[in-house]
Amino acid sequence: MFLKKLVVAIDGPAGAGKSTVAKLAAKELGYTYIDTGAMYRAVAWKTLQRKADVTDALILGVVKDIDVRLAYKDGVTQVFVDGQEITGEIRTPEVSHIVSQVAALGPVREKMVDLQRQMATEGGVLMDGRDIATHVLPNADVKIFLTASIEERAQRRWKEMKEKGYDMSLEELQKDIAARDKADSEREISPLVQADDATLLDTTGLSIDEVVARILAMCSEAGR
Ligand code: DC
Repeated sequence: MFLKKLVVAIDGPAGAGKSTVAKLAAKELGYTYIDTGAMYRAVAWKTLQRKADVTDALILGVVKDIDVRLAYKDGVTQVFVDGQEITGEIRTPEVSHIVSQVAALGPVREKMVDLQRQMATEGGVLMDGRDIATHVLPNADVKIFLTASIEERAQRRWKEMKEKGYDMSLEELQKDIAARDKADSEREISPLVQADDATLLDTTGLSIDEVVARILAMCSEAGR
């Protein structure tokens, strides 16, 4: 293992496989995996509990006093909102549908980014999201921009949703992912963009193991 406890940032669009490979790489390294998308999903989930039209004002009201916590144990990330565990509830199509609107709002991002930075202070973390290398952890030791073709990303998400029992059409899912890519890349605050000093890793056609091996090689290089 490396002497230094590295800070590893992985950014990329929806369905690029960030969480799958980040979890495996974190396990190999004995690091903590921090899924920042889960935090924005947690805010979206709580907003939906209000059972009202999802307006920016509603979201801002929700984020004001929300308590979002991630617990990482035995390779599994648990998500808590105001003390209630909602790990499974944040992966529904309803949450996915509104999460980009939630994540575009400044006060939401400020609160989540503060929490994310606190979680990374000790090092030994692998954090994934959209703005980790560019904004949350600009001094990260390793910066990776993970992507894949939209077709492959939609296919991966479709399989994942099917395993969870959701019957969505591949076409519908691809449209949803394309809309999220657009919203996340074009928003004003901390848009999804590859950092100048990040390494591009296109996972189209690569196996999970191949991607993990490349990430570990980059960490090994940086940890020397
Ligand atoms: O990775 P994910 O699909 O669970 O992310 C959910 C949404 O949260 C995604 O549409 C973009 C947003 N997000 C963000 O804006 N910044 C991050 N660091 C992580 C996620």
